[in-house]
Amino acid sequence: MRKTISSNQERVMSQQAGGDRGLFSGHFGFVIAAAASAVGLGNIWRFPYLTAKYGGGIFLLVYLILMLTFGYALIVAETSLGRSTRLSPVGAYRAYAGSKHSPFLSFGGWLNAIVPMLIFPYYCLIGGWIIKYLVEFSMGKVGILAGDGYFGGFISDTWEPVLWHLAFLGCTLAVILKGVEKGVEKASRVMMPLLLLLAAVVAVYSMTRPGAGAGIYYYLVPDFSKLSIMTVVVACGQLFFSLSIGMGILITYGSYMKKDVDVEKATNRIQIMDTLVALLAGLMIIPAVFAFSGGEAEALNAGPALMFVTIPKVFNSMGFGGAIGTMFFLMVFFAALTSNISIMEACVSTLSDELHWSRRTSALFMTFEAIALGVPCSLGFGPWSFISVAGMSILDMMDFTAATVLCPFAALLTCLLIGRLVGIDKLALDIKASSAFRREKIFRVCIAWLAPVILLIVLVSSVAAALGWIKM
Ligand code: TRP
Repeated sequence: MRKTISSNQERVMSQQAGGDRGLFSGHFGFVIAAAASAVGLGNIWRFPYLTAKYGGGIFLLVYLILMLTFGYALIVAETSLGRSTRLSPVGAYRAYAGSKHSPFLSFGGWLNAIVPMLIFPYYCLIGGWIIKYLVEFSMGKVGILAGDGYFGGFISDTWEPVLWHLAFLGCTLAVILKGVEKGVEKASRVMMPLLLLLAAVVAVYSMTRPGAGAGIYYYLVPDFSKLSIMTVVVACGQLFFSLSIGMGILITYGSYMKKDVDVEKATNRIQIMDTLVALLAGLMIIPAVFAFSGGEAEALNAGPALMFVTIPKVFNSMGFGGAIGTMFFLMVFFAALTSNISIMEACVSTLSDELHWSRRTSALFMTFEAIALGVPCSLGFGPWSFISVAGMSILDMMDFTAATVLCPFAALLTCLLIGRLVGIDKLALDIKASSAFRREKIFRVCIAWLAPVILLIVLVSSVAAALGWIKM
């Protein structure tokens, strides 16, 4: 089989591994790199606003159940697929067909590749909003940021958000082209634990505000009357987004993993870290929505704006709000940057492997793509706000298409790939070579039955929702 990992990616990975054999140094190297990719805006920005919108506790419950069942199965499956074949995601799908030409596998491969390309533009946009808030906080403008309508005014401006979007894109590009991922990874090794710590402090503060109790209740106690098919559909999309699964990134990381590293344990750590950050972000933001904005339906339905509207109010009400806000946004910036690098890296390696473009050309293409699709997302909150489908802004539409429709589709194909072509037995054997594989039964049931069935239901419902047949 052809080895299809682009040379630069190999260099990056081996840098991360601290050696030049193109392998992670062990358990720790893999966990850090994969966790840096996983923990990002998905946890801090996307998870809280979806939880607030889709019923609070019930969304959390569904999310956790999905996380423990097929989130677990897919993260283990993707990692060990990569590890057992030593292939990058790009050519991997095709390579499994051997010499046979299989349109199904080419399609599956491309589907996996297209998801990060769709996510990249608006990830840069939200990253830009983060830099804007970082800068404003560092200038001590806490009171202004916390003012009602401030955020709405900012995003509806035609050019300002676009400039910040370009700034974040520029940061990512600079890191990728200069090949300084190593430095960024090192920084994120420090930043990630600090982020956890600070998030915990802010969460405790936010939970102890007057009126926050109702928010804690809303967030932690499931209300089954709010359960709908959309809760499951959206929770599923969030799971993929947050763990970076269903788009082959973990296949790549797995392909750089040594054979003796315990796949189950390593992926477990990533899941725990990822879930912890998301849970804390929810505890920071949702009680605060109740304490500061009353917790009416309108406040809970704020969507992508939620974090930017709520968090400044929290910092504004605490001592040293400016300094703490600056620290907070700096850490979120790092978390977002490392994730964005992994998204861009996935796209660039697809383009250079499949279309035989140089890395520079591929990076340039991605830059243009991020501008071409990211600017409309930004304008969708301002001059182009008249464009909306099923009540979704342009950004919401892109996000919905990528995470809620295409990701489950790609994951479904991955399940079929494993079930039909690679063989669950073969994969299970490979996993067992290095780990106790205590949850083998869950793994088998999920990959063979549960995941395909749920993913199919999710897929059909998300398309039905987009067409307006069921309520979002
Ligand atoms: N998981 C990251 C987050 O939670 C986002 C991310 C990183 C991602 N790499 C990805 C999403 C690849 C899709 C595809 O923010």
